[in-house]
Amino acid sequence: MSDQYPLFALSEEHQEIRKAIREICDAKIAPAAAAVDEEARYPQEAHDALIETEFFAPHVPEAYGGVGADALATVLVIEEIARADVSASLIPAVNKLGSLPVQIGGSEELKKKYLGALAAGQGNFSYCLSEPDAGSDAANQKTRAVRDGDFWVLNGVKRWITNAGVSEYYTVLAVTDPSMRSKGISAFVVEKSDEGVSFGAPEKKLGIKGSPTREVYFDNVRIPADRIIGEEGKGFTYAMQTLDHTRITIAAQAVGVAQGALDYALGYIKERQQFGKPIAEFQGVEFMVADMGMKIEAARQLTYAAAGRSERGDKDLTFFGAAAKAFASDVAMQVTTDAVQLLGGYGFTRDYPVERMMRDAKITQIYEGTNQVQRIVMARQLLAGIQSTL
Ligand code: CAA
Repeated sequence: MSDQYPLFALSEEHQEIRKAIREICDAKIAPAAAAVDEEARYPQEAHDALIETEFFAPHVPEAYGGVGADALATVLVIEEIARADVSASLIPAVNKLGSLPVQIGGSEELKKKYLGALAAGQGNFSYCLSEPDAGSDAANQKTRAVRDGDFWVLNGVKRWITNAGVSEYYTVLAVTDPSMRSKGISAFVVEKSDEGVSFGAPEKKLGIKGSPTREVYFDNVRIPADRIIGEEGKGFTYAMQTLDHTRITIAAQAVGVAQGALDYALGYIKERQQFGKPIAEFQGVEFMVADMGMKIEAARQLTYAAAGRSERGDKDLTFFGAAAKAFASDVAMQVTTDAVQLLGGYGFTRDYPVERMMRDAKITQIYEGTNQVQRIVMARQLLAGIQSTL
């Protein structure tokens, strides 16, 4: 019975994937996490280890040279990396975010070229949607793309671009028809080496310090006409469809960092003695860790359920992506804050990892759409009558 109906349990294959990535994290990623944060440097050791073990962009289909991990497997990879270091987890997460518009809308040639290069580890892929005046209001794009014979010419500024400067490839949203708002936006692949592409100074951030966030400038960047992704005017749709899938990877980061903080706190409270006994024996502390574990498990189950929707392309994916992201990131903030509390004064210092985890958790409530935007998205779905297909 259980073999036929493995309801709400990971398959053996998925469990193996978790085991494999956890081993890599323990050996190569976790040991560097504190230094990566302290020095605010890109986690090159994680980058190299992920390429070597084919977890760099695991979502790329086999047809384009990837390993073809399904949405749940990709979530497990990101969750486990975030448990060790959220900055490093942005490598596979943003590689999926940046390249998914190509996978969703791109021509066969574009997919072969760019998904192939990504799968081969030739470069990271970033996603350029946000602008100084287009944050939550993503359709308010100012970057322009103008057709000039066999080329498109791009001008504009993108802001908050994750892994900018490190990435070789960029999906860039730009206005091709200013009279049409969201229907006048198109998507393009731009390469770091294209003339006229440059980057701002790295942002000085609260957390995820190992993941560079920079502005990207496009100054008369001329790209071949076939670098447009799919149809002209469909860019905003591809961008939103992409986020439906990738908000689940942010939920995975949130679950991972919360689990990392809980695991550390559990070890600590068993060791730390006050009033003549380990603080784990105080009921107030027990209640705290029980709530932390319970919330993480609820967030995890919602995230995995959302990954199933992503894999199948269910019609309630938009709701589930937003719900998983908002719920799990709120849990991550609560759990990491409680982990700092459990460690007391020690938790407040950089000698212990939980303060880094708390700082890193905060971004999961903000990026890929603030949790306020997620609630707008969820409410619109509910009002349109789209409910769970379970
Ligand atoms: N799938 C397909 N189409 C969609 C869609 C979806 N999920 N969401 C919207 N669309 C379509 C709509 O159907 C609509 O087309 P029609 O007019 O034909 O119906 C069109 O797109 C415009 O949609 P809306 O009218 O809903 O657009 P809006 O201006 O009201 O904005 C919004 C909606 C949900 C607020 C959207 O702007 C949004 O998601 N904002 C947040 C932006 C965001 O998440 N940014 C993240 C940046 S990336 C990042 O953070 C990455 C990182 O660092 C790691």
